[in-house]
Amino acid sequence: MNTRTPLIAGNWKMYKTNSEAVQTAGRLVELVADTADVDIMIAPVFTALDPVSKVVGGSRVGLGAQNLYWEKEGAYTGEISADMLVSAGCRYVIIGHSERRQYFGETDDTVNKKIRAALDAGLIPVLCIGETEDEREAGQTFSVLDKQVKSGLKEYVADDLAALVIAYEPVWAIGTGKSATTDQAQEAHNYIRSLIKDSFGPAFADAVRILYGGSVKPANISQLMDMPDIDGALVGGASLDADSFSRIVKFK
Ligand code: 13P
Repeated sequence: MNTRTPLIAGNWKMYKTNSEAVQTAGRLVELVADTADVDIMIAPVFTALDPVSKVVGGSRVGLGAQNLYWEKEGAYTGEISADMLVSAGCRYVIIGHSERRQYFGETDDTVNKKIRAALDAGLIPVLCIGETEDEREAGQTFSVLDKQVKSGLKEYVADDLAALVIAYEPVWAIGTGKSATTDQAQEAHNYIRSLIKDSFGPAFADAVRILYGGSVKPANISQLMDMPDIDGALVGGASLDADSFSRIVKFK
């Protein structure tokens, strides 16, 4: 048995005004108040971080952001630094989500810099990786994961990365209702853990949490969590509703 504490994380993407975010977060806090042995995170849009932090403060629910910029401050219009996220109450930050890679020019190099900035500020980075449908069909899943892990974590040593969380999100399973099968997910997670072991050693590979993301719902979370290398979930659509997200949190 591993000793990894599961993490169930909600990525709210570009949904919810501040009043909607505060309402959902408040309901979630109530619904998960009786949970234990599971870490919980929600990541609202930047403008809702501060009001939501006031609702989740002192509760079972941790706060995360969906992105950051690696410089500390400066003339970078529209960007937000790691320290600014900390000052808004964040403990986590999602880095390298496939939507950022696809629409906003995120690369393994920018991911690498963002992870350093997050760790320096004491944030827990949630590094997202995963192959597209074309890549899977071309038999490139492992080589894509290999590159994303090795380039994203280039020049790090295990001691730097103690807080790191990895999220495997096959792009073809995001928002499609078509979750990876438990076998597909387990195979990818096991491969990612073996990559981490090769680069950072067995102790870190055994400790690092690898979340699955892509059409996670209350109906499929338990089967996924039964897999030995799946340590939690990064949930999009089903995290927007406090009831459905709390059922995922209570997968046991
Ligand atoms: P869905 O759960 O909506 O498929 O989204 C997954 C995701 O992208 C989480 O980051």
